[in-house]
Amino acid sequence: MVAPVWLQFVDLLVAICFILGLKGLSGPKTARNGNLIGAFGAVVAVVVLFIAHPGMNNLPLIIGAIVIGLLIGVPAARGVKMTAMPQMVALFNGVGGGAAALISIIEFFEMGVGEPGAEINYGALAATVFTVVIGSIAFTGSILTFLKLQELITTRPIVLPAGPFVTGLVAVATLVAAVWLLVAPSTLVLIVLLVLSLLAGIMLVLPVGGADVPIVISLLNAFTGLSVAASGYVLGNVLLIIAGTLVGAAGTLLTREMAHAMGRSVSKTMFGAFTATAAAAAGTGEERPVKTSTAQDVAIMLEYASKVLIVPGYGLAVAQAQQTIRELADLLSEKGIDVAYAIHPVAGRMPGHMNVLLAEANVPYEQLRELDDVNPEFASTDVVIVVGANDVVNPAAKSDPNAPIFGMPILDVSAAKQVVFLKRSMRPGFAGIENELLYQDGTTLLFGDAKASLTDVVSAVKEL
Ligand code: TAP
Repeated sequence: MVAPVWLQFVDLLVAICFILGLKGLSGPKTARNGNLIGAFGAVVAVVVLFIAHPGMNNLPLIIGAIVIGLLIGVPAARGVKMTAMPQMVALFNGVGGGAAALISIIEFFEMGVGEPGAEINYGALAATVFTVVIGSIAFTGSILTFLKLQELITTRPIVLPAGPFVTGLVAVATLVAAVWLLVAPSTLVLIVLLVLSLLAGIMLVLPVGGADVPIVISLLNAFTGLSVAASGYVLGNVLLIIAGTLVGAAGTLLTREMAHAMGRSVSKTMFGAFTATAAAAAGTGEERPVKTSTAQDVAIMLEYASKVLIVPGYGLAVAQAQQTIRELADLLSEKGIDVAYAIHPVAGRMPGHMNVLLAEANVPYEQLRELDDVNPEFASTDVVIVVGANDVVNPAAKSDPNAPIFGMPILDVSAAKQVVFLKRSMRPGFAGIENELLYQDGTTLLFGDAKASLTDVVSAVKEL
């Protein structure tokens, strides 16, 4: 049935809102407005559904679900710390994929499959099967990613005995069940397909090491988008198709960008579950001495430097020390020292995390140097201050083929004359692997929360 003209017009308006919203999200200055425009479009899309379908079934259930969702979602999104944003995104993404899968399951029964004389629309059935598989993978995969990001389970690759074989088996069985459901649709096969798809999401994400999580998040995001688009086809809802396709396309592009930044191929990450080995999960756990410094020692070191590079990482965000690092950088600049920030594309826990953090502290954009531009500069740098970064400077990415981060481009901090690490303990970074750089001759550690340590260094520099 063709939708009335007014509804088509509203659909067009909402689609434009989604596109403008996504475009706005591509830059920090326009992101807030982009978000609002996208949210406005989504609210209009929901409200218009109620107007266009006045005799809707299950209205109390639908409104009840919306109210429960709002009661959980709004306070959670308002209260979330910026450093916990990626796990919230992972959780919301999983819920989106799961919802698409559930809708398709309901539509499967609405089709009257198995009932005598029922005419099956095979196009819609294929979209239903696709949504069940991809939506379920996105659901369990995202929940597992959430658990990794929240560090409720280890961030290292989890390789089960015969893991690649089991993953292969689950993948083949999922494919067979999907084809079977298309050829001979039945409730039993649907349940088998659902269980296998949920398992496939777990098997795909389990062997992913911490450092590869950014790629997996965006990949699962693309999966959710595609499953939502397919559920839009099943329901005959144009807006779901448009919104899902936009998310799918944006997620796919982000996956490519992330994989490029990590020196990985998308296929290697996707099929990593089939090639993962137990060796990738191994670590040393050995205790070795390190050189430590006080804030005064660091201030003196900086006083004699003519060129300083700052490497911010996740710990800077945890400590909320962006203003303090800027204060230190300004102080050093006033003394005629050349200061800049070396930004790794996956430093922190979300794309552009360090750029957003430093923009909050009004760090001049010209002082930010990207990985490829800054790497040749380390050799002529007197002091590198690594503030809460670890994986993005870990030389194991170049030297240890068994390390989960092997092949990821890193900031070549070890080429500098002196390196100061600001961290609280000897705990490793997100990938869960030791950093040889901490034990090298030119490296010293200033232990403590980054904000407290930087405040002490700032005071010490002022006193010199
Ligand atoms: P990490 O390797 O995770 O290292 C963070 C360091 O900060 C740790 O050494 C930690 O040591 C220290 N730290 C934490 N809180 C601190 C505090 N309050 N004060 C001082 N130090 C603190 O971070 P990174 O180098 O930025 O690398 C990012 C990692 O996350 C990569 O593996 C990346 O793949 C992954 N990841 C990135 C993203 C995106 S898109 N950016 C998304 C998901 C995952 P202590 O505990 O000893 O203090």
